Amino acid sequence: MLSEALLVSAPGKVILHGEHAVVHGKVALAVALNLRTFLRLQPHSNGKVGLNLPNTGIKRVWDVARLQLLDTSFLEPGDVTTPTPEQVEKLKEVVDLPEDSANHKGLAVLAFLYLYLSICRKQRALPSLDITVWSELPTGAGLGSSAAYSVCLAAALLTACEEIPNPLRGGESTSRWATEDLELINKWAFQGERVIHGNPSGVDNAVSTWGGALRYQQGKISPLKRPPALQILLTNTRVPRSTKALVAVVRSRLLKFPEIVAPLLTSIDAISLECERVLGEMAAAPAPEHYLVLEELIDMNQHHLSALGVGHASLDQLCRVTMAHGLHSKLTGAGGGGCGITLLRPDLELPDVEATKQALTSCGFDCWETSIGASGVSVHLDTSLDTPVQQALGGL
Ligand code: PMV
Repeated sequence: MLSEALLVSAPGKVILHGEHAVVHGKVALAVALNLRTFLRLQPHSNGKVGLNLPNTGIKRVWDVARLQLLDTSFLEPGDVTTPTPEQVEKLKEVVDLPEDSANHKGLAVLAFLYLYLSICRKQRALPSLDITVWSELPTGAGLGSSAAYSVCLAAALLTACEEIPNPLRGGESTSRWATEDLELINKWAFQGERVIHGNPSGVDNAVSTWGGALRYQQGKISPLKRPPALQILLTNTRVPRSTKALVAVVRSRLLKFPEIVAPLLTSIDAISLECERVLGEMAAAPAPEHYLVLEELIDMNQHHLSALGVGHASLDQLCRVTMAHGLHSKLTGAGGGGCGITLLRPDLELPDVEATKQALTSCGFDCWETSIGASGVSVHLDTSLDTPVQQALGGL
């Protein structure tokens, strides 16, 4: 067990192109969003394990001795095993969770306990430690906040238990793990996601682990080589939506009008492939024309998504407002409200961006200027980090 504190961070994600079409076997491009979740792990010798999630007000402490006595033999020692629904139910029972473990707070605690008990079982005795997790990502907005949480937990626990080395060398402020270590982090993070979501696709934890951009099709996830970091405005319309209901809308339209809807899905697939090609070209030599193509792809896809039935008045408003400032937007994720992305070309002047942000905020939307194609899970020198969220939380 490591004796020093660890500070790790992992990004959220947005879907650039291919939402909904991906449900029907087409390609989606998912990219890391530079709004991050941070985790600090502090080893202790006080016989306690603490979990502190200031964004959601969760503060829990367990006695290590009590956890040690639990019969957790149903968790395979030290292996990456799939948590079956029975295992998750059994875990709820043995740890005796007081809060409703079906809500997102209960599920966050359960995912932590699952990863702590499974990863640390190889240690002679379960370690005493304190974990604090805080995030720049809003929860439940389709931005991969639970995946970033699971990735941070997996990376920190595997490193603290010396299953993987701490890659941070003297003098460095930030570092990343080697490929095989990232693969292990991703596998464990996927298990955490399964505790939270039941049957997730695995794309959110993959983006959060690897960073950059990923192509995703029929369960096959492959990272894009050297994707450019693009500046975007991310806007949350704050209109609540249900991914499940919106996926059902598209399915029923496809059944009702196959001749009309199937070509839309094929066209969205072609948009994703064209975007992937352009991003590849931009990695080699970015040029202003590339941004113009990306903008056209955004416009076409937004109209296709509206035709599929997953648009919303708030998203139309978002597109109109940004277009009035010469900028192009599309919904990201499930649609029906939720979030949208607006591409910021490098030639834009700061006052133009500020004016657009102001206009979006005055519609009642939340708006962040951030980048996509950000780094995946990273470890930081503890003193090097001073994020606005950290400051807001009183310099945790
Ligand atoms: O719920 P979100 O915002 O992560 O996006 C869902 C994306 C869909 O393509 C609509 C559904 C899916 O499972 O891929």
